[in-house]
Amino acid sequence: MFPFSHPGLENVQVYKPGKPVEELERELGIRHALKLASNENPYGPSPKALAAAKSALKNAHRYPDGSCFYLKRALAERFGVAEDGIVVGNGSDELIVMAIRAFVGSGEEVLTATPTFLIYRIATLVQGAKIVEVPQKDFKYDLKAMTAAITPQTKAIFIANPDNPTGSFARRAELEAFVKKVPSNCLIFMDEAYYEYAAAEKDYPNTIAWLSQRPNLIVSRTFSKAYGLCGLRVGYAFAHPEVAAGMNRVREPFNVNGPAQAAACAALNDKAFVKKIVRQTVSERRRLEAQLRQRGIRTVPSAANFILMHLGAAAPAVYEGLLRKGVIVRHMKSWGLEEHIRVTVGRPQDNRVFLKALDASLSPKKK
Ligand SMILES: Cc1ncc(COP(=O)(O)O)c(C=O)c1O
Repeated sequence: MFPFSHPGLENVQVYKPGKPVEELERELGIRHALKLASNENPYGPSPKALAAAKSALKNAHRYPDGSCFYLKRALAERFGVAEDGIVVGNGSDELIVMAIRAFVGSGEEVLTATPTFLIYRIATLVQGAKIVEVPQKDFKYDLKAMTAAITPQTKAIFIANPDNPTGSFARRAELEAFVKKVPSNCLIFMDEAYYEYAAAEKDYPNTIAWLSQRPNLIVSRTFSKAYGLCGLRVGYAFAHPEVAAGMNRVREPFNVNGPAQAAACAALNDKAFVKKIVRQTVSERRRLEAQLRQRGIRTVPSAANFILMHLGAAAPAVYEGLLRKGVIVRHMKSWGLEEHIRVTVGRPQDNRVFLKALDASLSPKKK
């Protein structure tokens, strides 16, 4: 066997993203397959962001600004934080990896929930550290059980808020109580990739306001979801300047490319656009949830742009049935949820296609 550099690497499963549209179209010999598997924004990015990226392409022969000066300045102004407390990543995935690389030693522990975003587990094992996963309770992070799972070896805690794949979120009071109990030498990484969708939910916590009191807190967000820029890869984190400096030490020098930086600046400025995307997505999510309930399908209440649905033993067959109809969703087997499927909220026309294919897959004999 290949000589792994440390035994933890043997347990690392390569991250399997949702099936690419092109792959399914090739396999089925079809066109216009519909992908509702990766929690993307189906409306696309702001035209202003696209124009900025296009214009920045003419400097493709130059290295980008490794410090992301203009983007950091724009983020600092928007969120009222100091520029030296901002780290920009090649997607927020990279910020997760950077935090672990900078602050977790091999053999130390990283605490999170299960099911949750799989990169926490992968990045921890790649680091040669130990992952401790506390089962969720009623599809929510069990913060009491997580408090009890903190040990002197716990170096970082990852919380996706809202969570992926459940879409649930930890509320202000319970999260604040949890954060207060975490020892100051243990990092708390709040992954708010779906922040824009959840921000208006009652009791959704404003974690940025806690940063000045909590030097062990990192808050990460992304341009991948509501801003529709996942293909360009830009995420950002707010932290104490010393924590940010630690993350910057392990950052690749030119981790965020020029068109991505330009697009992110323009996207941040186009407030009306992102507001519209969030409004449309949330209203479609509610409609889709109601449609699923009408079919007797149980769903987890979501504060994000996707829905986790329970299909029981039929889940794998329904997933395959949807694929044959050209609709790609996510079967949750890799998350240990064999009986569940996660669907991204699409545009109204996408959701109609999905529901039709779902009905056909739920009762294949009638078709
Ligand atoms: C909870 C969560 N965090 C982080 C990410 C990573 O997003 P990105 O690297 O595109 O910013 C995702 C992507 O699906 C996610 O669901």
